[in-house]
Amino acid sequence: MWIEIIVAIPVVIVVLTTLQYLLAASRMKHIKTKQPILSQHPLRCYSEVFLQRKHFAEHQLKFARQHNYQTYVTYFGPFNFVIVNNPESAKKVLLNTKIYEKDKSIFTPHADRLLGTNVLFSNGEEWNAQRRVMNPAFYNVDRFAETFLSCTKNTVDAMVKICDKEREIDVPKLMTAMTLDILGDAAFGYKFNNVTTLLEKKSNPFVDSYHYVMENMITVPKLLLGKLMSLPGDGKFESATSNLETLIYDIIRTPRNSSASQTLLDLMKDTVDEQTGAPMSEKRLRDNMVIMFIAGHDTTSSALSYALYTLAKYPEIQEKVIKELDDNVDEITAESLEKLEYLSMFIKENLRVYPPVPNILTRNPAADDVVDGFKLPKGQRLEVSIYTIHHNKEIWGDDADEFRPERFSEEESKGRHPYAWMPFGMGPRKCLGNTFSLLEQKIFLAFLLKNYRSALIDPNYVLQPTAIGFLMGPAADFRIKLVPRQDKKGVTI
Ligand code: HEM
Repeated sequence: MWIEIIVAIPVVIVVLTTLQYLLAASRMKHIKTKQPILSQHPLRCYSEVFLQRKHFAEHQLKFARQHNYQTYVTYFGPFNFVIVNNPESAKKVLLNTKIYEKDKSIFTPHADRLLGTNVLFSNGEEWNAQRRVMNPAFYNVDRFAETFLSCTKNTVDAMVKICDKEREIDVPKLMTAMTLDILGDAAFGYKFNNVTTLLEKKSNPFVDSYHYVMENMITVPKLLLGKLMSLPGDGKFESATSNLETLIYDIIRTPRNSSASQTLLDLMKDTVDEQTGAPMSEKRLRDNMVIMFIAGHDTTSSALSYALYTLAKYPEIQEKVIKELDDNVDEITAESLEKLEYLSMFIKENLRVYPPVPNILTRNPAADDVVDGFKLPKGQRLEVSIYTIHHNKEIWGDDADEFRPERFSEEESKGRHPYAWMPFGMGPRKCLGNTFSLLEQKIFLAFLLKNYRSALIDPNYVLQPTAIGFLMGPAADFRIKLVPRQDKKGVTI
């Protein structure tokens, strides 16, 4: 009996995916192109992603390289996507927000309810109006420097304690805890005390709910079975959503003190739309706070985790960052860090090689258009692969996979396509929080490296990127230790 079941499962998978492929491929006939459509059977993708445990972005890069970075079609579950791999076509798509609308149809209705109508996913005038109100909140992020520094100190202190006791630091967990503390304080004036909770090995119900919804918003069974999975039986998702909602409404309704003079939420509440004179409604504030949780901390946490890996993996690069810091910075402030060119180049290279958002969010054209010779009909889903563009050898050269911050020097950057580096997206929908995140990263790295060096537990360890919802983060097994600097200068804990 068991043998029959074991044999039947792969047969059913092959038959189902082939049917999906044929169905999706028949829909592709309406895409007209002079070049052959490069499409791949979903099993090829699944086998690499699930059996070889590769992130889908790495799978997409491999396929794109085999086909000279041409635009191609891929299938995932019942959906097909056109994938763009070059900066010029990316520019065309990202500049034209009227045609290339954000698409969230792959989310289940439960996830849809959680997300609401927010700046990340809305389109047209709804998006414009929200962005107008939110933009001012993100001007002058230097006001958050103190908050970033105080959360950093608390985190480094926790890292030292963990190192003393357990000898190795679970980097992804700790960076996620810290970036959530920072976001809570700077964006909403709310103290999660997440790093402390983690240190005390306690759990935080809000954080548990958040992780549950993130992990279950887009899952493979849901993609395979379309919307069916979301009909009955997603009670756990609903209850996690309502936990999040309760806290979010509480934060909106209760005035709080933050170490920043004005939080992002304060400014969003105070700003009225210059065109309509209307403030943002409480429901829209709630929807955008959900999105800031999603967009605003796991992303920076991935970037910092990767940074701790690349510093440890390439000691000569770590030494250059340290030297520049020692030569130029006595006190860590937004202003003192601004002049650090090598630190900026390091952060850029880190985001190039390991972009936390590997693909821009799916676009769904509202009208027919032509991209890269493909005549795309209205409604044909499309994505730009940030990861592939960041590793495109035609742009970055044969050493595209190597970690080399110098490629961002003024000299080497000359003539490079402006859309060749776009970890924060580009065009009118570019990340609202990019300067917020960059300053947060700089302050954490500067403070840490003034006092410690990052070191791998196993020098041969090679970090594998893994999926966190639609983000890309380091594998959960990534650990480092901190080595106190005997030669430290200036800033201390
Ligand atoms: C390393 C950190 C970050 C990365 C890599 C990142 C990446 C991105 C990308 C690629 C987009 C564009 C998506 C698209 O066009 O499909 C985006 C949009 C957005 N990001 Fe970020 N992000 C980061 C940090 C943040 C932070 C800290 C916040 C808020 C505190 C934030 C808030 C947003 C918002 C609200 C949007 C939507 C903008 C719009 O559609 O108008 N992000 N981000």
